[in-house]
Amino acid sequence: MLTWDDTPLESNPTPAAALPRPATSSPSPSLSEGSSGSMGEGSLEAATTSSASAVAVAERSPVVERPRSTVPVGVKPAGAGVSGLETPQFGAGRLSVDDKRIINCRADLNQLVPFRYNWAWDKYLTGCANHWMPQEINMTADLALWRDPNGLSDDERRLVKRNLGFFSTADSLVANNIVLAVYRHITNPECRQYLLRQAFEEALHTHAYQYIIESLGLDESEVFNMYREIPSIHDKAAFELQFTEELADPNFHTGTPATDQRLLRNLIGFYVIMEGIFFYVGFVQMLSLGRRNKMVGAAEQFQYILRDESQHANFGIDVINTIRQENPHLWTPAFQKEISELMQQAVDLETTYATDTMPRGVLGLNAEMFSEYLRFIANRRASQIGLEQIYDKASNPFPWMSEMLDLNKERNFFETRVIEYQTGGALKWD
Ligand SMILES: [Fe+2]
Ligand SMILES: [Fe+2]
Repeated sequence: MLTWDDTPLESNPTPAAALPRPATSSPSPSLSEGSSGSMGEGSLEAATTSSASAVAVAERSPVVERPRSTVPVGVKPAGAGVSGLETPQFGAGRLSVDDKRIINCRADLNQLVPFRYNWAWDKYLTGCANHWMPQEINMTADLALWRDPNGLSDDERRLVKRNLGFFSTADSLVANNIVLAVYRHITNPECRQYLLRQAFEEALHTHAYQYIIESLGLDESEVFNMYREIPSIHDKAAFELQFTEELADPNFHTGTPATDQRLLRNLIGFYVIMEGIFFYVGFVQMLSLGRRNKMVGAAEQFQYILRDESQHANFGIDVINTIRQENPHLWTPAFQKEISELMQQAVDLETTYATDTMPRGVLGLNAEMFSEYLRFIANRRASQIGLEQIYDKASNPFPWMSEMLDLNKERNFFETRVIEYQTGGALKWD
């Protein structure tokens, strides 16, 4: 096992340490030639004709002589973290695990190890082990059922199309939030590693919805435009986009209690509300179809997606709780009230969505059951991030969902894998 703190630099030279020291304190004569000291073509030529060590110095010196960061001084608050784009500080002390923080970290972000947050790395490994692809799932029976005029009721068809309409753009919103808003503010490499895996999984989910839409021969334009044309879907998307827009602003930086709370608010908005509440009406509805032997291919796609989303929500909750532990001053009563109110708004939006997707009872489900279910889920999510219960009484009307998913703890409900993915040995290069 590698250790990073007990090996002196001199006794275990890295390629960088083995090179001559750069000319920050005692410049090489070849580099001081010329009046300006700049590395124009003439001075570069002079350097290449002096000595091998001077070549090495000349090649390295532009790096050393640049400012350590291109971020203008004064733009970021003092507490804000690094981005990972900073020029490596030559000869700086080695990274210690105690230097790592999830937000506002000033330590090197490009060194994955030593791990501080093993839970993040474990979830990355689990995500890789759970890899799947949408086209592995046979959609033939779904197409036959969809084409059969008596195969599905109008209410069932509406439910399928509405859910495809919501999810086909929702996963894009999640991916955009990771890449454009959250990633740069998470200052920990093992968490970033998971975010990169998650971003790919969100792409796979969008792929899965597109694959279902294509397999059934649906009007793609109608489905993908629902988040702009169907109010219950639009309102959920707009609710989420408020969080992304704020953090994607290049002038937004963490490092103050107010901005750190805004980051937490985004994380709760996506991991607790989007992935932990907004997805669950659709999951229950699509899995209910599968339980009745209808749309079994689509239902299987949703099962795989549910497994991924469950892991995403659990990762986000771990991130949120770790930020709370490391920054207890952020979790003020006023902030908790704000989050609780956001979750109530989300439950209202999702209840409206449930009613819109099933104006009448269908598949043994009805909107009242979902209203109860959403209150139950919101209470469970609240307790997972240390909030007071939001609703007085709430029970789970869909206990069978617990077979698919344990809301309390992550649990792999897939006993077997559909396909065992191969590593390098199976690759063909021609
Ligand atoms: Fe997703
Ligand atoms: Fe997700």
